Amino acid sequence: MTGPKALLAIAALGVGIASAQANCKKATITVASAAEATIACKTVEGSIVFDASDDLSGNVIISGPETVKGDIIIKNATQINALSSSTIAKIGGKFELQGLERLSSIDFTALQEVGEIEWITLPGLESVRFGTKGVTTIEKVRISDTFLSDLTGLSMASVGTFQIDNNRNLQIWETLLTNITEKLIVADNHEELAASFPALTWAAGLDVRGVKSLSVPLLAYVNNSMQLTENNGMESFIAPNLTETGKDLSFRNNDILSNISFPLYTEAGGSLVIQNNQMLTNIDGFPELEKVSGAITMRGNFTEFDLPVLDDVRGAFDVSSTEDISKSCEPFEELQDDGKIQGSDFECSSDNENANEGGKGSDDDEDAAGLLGINTPIVLGIALLGGLFQLL
Ligand SMILES: *[C@@H]1O[C@H](CO)[C@@H](O)[C@H](O)[C@H]1NC(C)=O
Ligand SMILES: *[C@@H]1O[C@H](CO)[C@@H](O)[C@H](O)[C@H]1NC(C)=O
Ligand SMILES: *[C@@H]1O[C@H](CO)[C@@H](O)[C@H](O)[C@H]1NC(C)=O
Ligand SMILES: *[C@@H]1O[C@H](CO)[C@@H](O)[C@H](O)[C@H]1NC(C)=O
Ligand SMILES: *[C@@H]1O[C@H](CO)[C@@H](O)[C@H](O)[C@H]1NC(C)=O
Ligand SMILES: *[C@@H]1O[C@H](CO)[C@@H](O)[C@H](O)[C@H]1NC(C)=O
Repeated sequence: MTGPKALLAIAALGVGIASAQANCKKATITVASAAEATIACKTVEGSIVFDASDDLSGNVIISGPETVKGDIIIKNATQINALSSSTIAKIGGKFELQGLERLSSIDFTALQEVGEIEWITLPGLESVRFGTKGVTTIEKVRISDTFLSDLTGLSMASVGTFQIDNNRNLQIWETLLTNITEKLIVADNHEELAASFPALTWAAGLDVRGVKSLSVPLLAYVNNSMQLTENNGMESFIAPNLTETGKDLSFRNNDILSNISFPLYTEAGGSLVIQNNQMLTNIDGFPELEKVSGAITMRGNFTEFDLPVLDDVRGAFDVSSTEDISKSCEPFEELQDDGKIQGSDFECSSDNENANEGGKGSDDDEDAAGLLGINTPIVLGIALLGGLFQLL
């Protein structure tokens, strides 16, 4: 384009930018149609909010802005099939998508930084591509109730709280993050979900439900509690490098779990709870456990248990089995006599039909907290640092 035409085009562009500049400072830019998703602002000072309208349909491309200082919110726009942007690099606030029934793909190839991701009830969502080769930072994430089947490729160094729940197709999730600084919550995804954290060394807390396998080969320290509950496809669990939990370690109601192994675990800062894992016949996976600052609760169908170097229990000792464990109980009776079990309640009982139920040091609090974490829209913190953030 040369001559007058180009001048006209430049003039038109100038007008476009000039008129949009006023908009760029608005608290909210409202988008009611796919055409309105082209926004002539390099920086949007406020938020971009889409109408819950059927006029928003097909492939919606957010084009123009590089930085959105506020949020991008799209709710109930049920006719959108695909959402993409090749210009947006930073979303300062929330990237919230909810109730977009037909949305099948999300593609944001320039994105480097997002305050918070909250994607809920996206039943058609099959593919997500996010990020650049640079540093992608995300502070908070929750992905719930989508159709995603694979979260491999989500690479990051550190997360705050990361909640992945009710993604019924999700079967594979591998992430290279090294630190979970608040909490990992995994629940009610595909029952065969294999969750793998090959680089994770430190976690504030883990609450994992309904997975087939959980791999944490380098995990050395859990600052708060680690809870594995109702992982009904899980046959075995090993934490080969875990030395300590700041609070509880618990395994409850895992139907087919038959082997628990913590070869380097020396100290539970809270309680050790192993309850109602009915296929677990021998509890011998704690060869180095010396100290339990809370209670020991082990209730189940096991015939043998052993904590060979245990030397200091601050809370109760409550061990009960449906089977005869009188031989295994003997050394602990001695420990109790030696004053090394400080809790006033000591029980080590055999042939108890109801061994899997009840129990002292019952974990009602823990349960409530766990379920609360899943069912309420709690604030989730994620700091997602590192290379390419790509969900596929
Ligand atoms: C979206 O739909 C849900 C359920 O129908 C409704 O509760 C909510 O108010 C709607 N939100 C908007 C922004 O339309
Ligand atoms: C992980 O993050 C927590 C909280 O910021 C910090 O205390 C801890 O040292 C970190 N661990 C590693 C291995 O970086
Ligand atoms: C680690 O645990 C200690 C003691 O409970 C607590 O004070 C601290 O805030 C925790 N840190 C993190 C990052 O969870
Ligand atoms: C196990 O954890 C320790 C820290 O406790 C770390 O120094 C070591 O490298 C880890 N081992 C492996 C194989 O990663
Ligand atoms: C339990 O798992 C550990 C670690 O994988 C393994 O060394 C051990 O042989 C297993 N025990 C049984 C009884 O399968
Ligand atoms: C565990 O013991 C209870 C009570 O005797 C019994 O009903 C249950 O079938 C046992 N579970 C297994 C897997 O053997």
